[in-house]
Amino acid sequence: MKILIVFGTRPEAIKMCPLVLVLKKHKEIDCKVCLTGQHREMLDQVMKAFEVEADYNLDIMKNRQTLTTITTSVMEGLETVLEQEKPDIVLVHGDTTTSYAAALAAFYQKIPVGHVEAGLRTGDIYSPFPEEMNRLLTDRISTYYFAPTELNRQNLLKEGISNNIFVTGNTVIDAFHYTVKDDYVFSNEILDSINYRSRKVITVTAHRRENLGRPLENICNAIKRLATEYKDSYFVYPVHLNPAVRDTVFTILSEIDNVKLIEPVDVLDMHNLLARSYMVMTDSGGLQEEAPHFGKPVLVLRTETERPEAVEAGTVKVVGVDSETIYKEAKKLIDDTNAYQKMAHAVNPYGDGHASERIVQELLRLEGIEK
Ligand code: UD1
Ligand code: UDP
Repeated sequence: MKILIVFGTRPEAIKMCPLVLVLKKHKEIDCKVCLTGQHREMLDQVMKAFEVEADYNLDIMKNRQTLTTITTSVMEGLETVLEQEKPDIVLVHGDTTTSYAAALAAFYQKIPVGHVEAGLRTGDIYSPFPEEMNRLLTDRISTYYFAPTELNRQNLLKEGISNNIFVTGNTVIDAFHYTVKDDYVFSNEILDSINYRSRKVITVTAHRRENLGRPLENICNAIKRLATEYKDSYFVYPVHLNPAVRDTVFTILSEIDNVKLIEPVDVLDMHNLLARSYMVMTDSGGLQEEAPHFGKPVLVLRTETERPEAVEAGTVKVVGVDSETIYKEAKKLIDDTNAYQKMAHAVNPYGDGHASERIVQELLRLEGIEK
């Protein structure tokens, strides 16, 4: 069986590399990796951390790229790779424009698509944008669905998709086997210099397209106010390389002593930072799944989430993008030990760290290689 795995951004890579490593252990599977290069430096960091080599890199990234150019360049680049490799199945991940364009390119050559992290939904096609539509369309195109949770399976059933859905857990939990260590030494100097026992370290990230502009300004203003009030706490913010994010973040948050604006860190540093943080404030999808694993409360800087499982479990709270509300919710968790303890418990609605093995077993079974 020949499988072509296609991905192109940091979060896809973090969640697909564990799967690639398991696929590569199976001699009966010929596994090829094609990067679209929708991200560049942030993708390279992940490939190095997992020591995964790609067979192809379409290298499409442009500064301040548009959704249209990502879509067309991925489709054009993949056409040739698919013609050359003629895989039996193409695996894509999640909800990026790489995922959708790759699924469509495979469909145009009548190659079945397997969607890893299928079935997540907010119900609002403009939020997150364009991810909600990307995952809806990717699910329409796909033949095989690897749904992280039972709720994700239910979402697919509601849309009339009923065949070949497998609830596997999320491969992001598998990634921790490779990244988290008790005696970890950070490669980032600033992260290495922090005493995590004597300070509250609050990890912050924000990058979503729908948050660019005013919402991101609100988020940064709330962080500024919190940092000014809680001088003993550190607000560690690895700033996404999107220039539209950097313009806002550096304008508002530079030169505040206890706000540490750092370059994107590799996934080894990031997961170990999460494990040592007090709490997380983010609009990221992946961090909403990762932080609960470590029992770290997450304030979601968005108006919705496609990952309600950890919200129901009490570890994640969606607080929106109003500056005053973000400030108050964070303040509560910093000041009020009871409120903090209520949220700070490890929950694992996203799997047991063996999602990749389950996905591979299903693929082998579907191909009739293993019963
Ligand atoms: C993309 C995904 C989003 C995902 C996010 C993860 C789409 C439409 N968006 O959003 O779903 O949550 O990745 O981070 O698929 N850049 C660099 N170097 C890099 C990466 C990005 O310089 O390694 C800069 C480039 O100027 C690029 C810009 O960031 O044009 C935006 O990148 P893009 O992939 O379009 O959007 P993201 O916001 O990263
Ligand atoms: N991450 C990382 N370095 C950073 C920031 C985040 O390795 O500096 C990881 C994080 O642990 C998670 C993933 O990147 O696994 C989330 O990516 P991002 O927030 O860019 O995308 P999303 O999950 O929102 O699609």
